[in-house]
Amino acid sequence: MKTYRLPSTDLNVTRLAYGCMSLAGWDSNPPTHADRKRAAQMLETALELDINLFDNADIYGRGKCETVFGEALKQVPGARDSILIKTKCGIRFDNDPPGAPGRYDFSYDHILSSVEGSLRRLQTDHIDVLLLHRPDALVEPDEVARAFTELQRAGQVRHFGVSNHSPMQIELLKKSVTQPIVANQLEFSLLHANLADLGVFINQSAARFTAADGLLDYCRLHNILVEAWSPVAGGRLIDPPAGASAQVRAAAAAVSALAAAKHTSREAIALGWILRHPAGIQPIIGTARPDRLRLSVEADQVQLTREEWYSLLEAARGGPVP
Ligand SMILES: NC(=O)c1ccc[n+]([C@@H]2O[C@H](COP(=O)([O-])OP(=O)(O)OC[C@H]3O[C@@H](n4cnc5c(N)ncnc54)[C@H](OP(=O)(O)O)[C@@H]3O)[C@@H](O)[C@H]2O)c1
Repeated sequence: MKTYRLPSTDLNVTRLAYGCMSLAGWDSNPPTHADRKRAAQMLETALELDINLFDNADIYGRGKCETVFGEALKQVPGARDSILIKTKCGIRFDNDPPGAPGRYDFSYDHILSSVEGSLRRLQTDHIDVLLLHRPDALVEPDEVARAFTELQRAGQVRHFGVSNHSPMQIELLKKSVTQPIVANQLEFSLLHANLADLGVFINQSAARFTAADGLLDYCRLHNILVEAWSPVAGGRLIDPPAGASAQVRAAAAAVSALAAAKHTSREAIALGWILRHPAGIQPIIGTARPDRLRLSVEADQVQLTREEWYSLLEAARGGPVP
């Protein structure tokens, strides 16, 4: 699989990454035999397909996704050194501790204790990239900077990034954070194309409202890798569920027709649409099925023309560009 240098780092990453969020359920029970088997199968398949970047978060499956991924990794000799692990912190569930509301927490103490838990569950001594998961309204850039510096000094985290952050929120962090912000993980797919739309529907009433004005251009200008979460819109772009809206069905039909014309999978077209964007956006594939992972990786071989890219955007929007 094609790779590129993660900006501002010495890391070479594959252009498709694997997301571990579906390796285990969100309940409070311990990991099951099925969770462990799934994690081992997905890791094995991803390694076989040459994927080298694995996306996790402290909260996925309430820690279980990191646990089963760490266990699976341990079973493959030498695997830790051949892959890169990304994880996230900063989201806290309600009732932790009992009575507390769901919230975001970028405090020094929470960032450090979250990373400590991730390292333990992943059974590794370092995380390659740590992301702040969702903006904390009460963020203190000085505290984040202190946490990042401490984690880097201790060798526990190599590089830092954010997720779901606007340009101004990144600028605010940069007031104190001296490490480069290397990535911003954002929802992006044909069915959630706000980032690309903004560049096309400028000053149009058809533009979808979003607080992410200029976000894609900002990341390109500042060498921040954009990672796409939910790149096949949770499967809706591939197999629209019963009762899906006309827009979803039209987008999936356009994906399906182009896949047939190009003799590739529907997954490859949906992901190829993201890869075609010159920002170098990295899709994070979320399936927990080896067969779907294989179909997804066909995207590495797909090259969409400008006309094909715009045709898919038009189908997904349900109308022509201005
Ligand atoms: N930063 C954030 O805020 C954030 C938020 C969400 C996710 N993420 C990251 O992004 C990764 C990907 O997100 P995602 O899981 O939402 O992405 P996705 O790849 O768009 O969706 C995966 C989901 O779609 C289903 N699916 C895939 N192909 C399908 C098909 N042909 N028919 C029906 N269902 C299909 C999968 O089910 P099967 O498993 O059965 O295939 C799985 O439940 C996550 O693992 C996580 O690492 C980050």
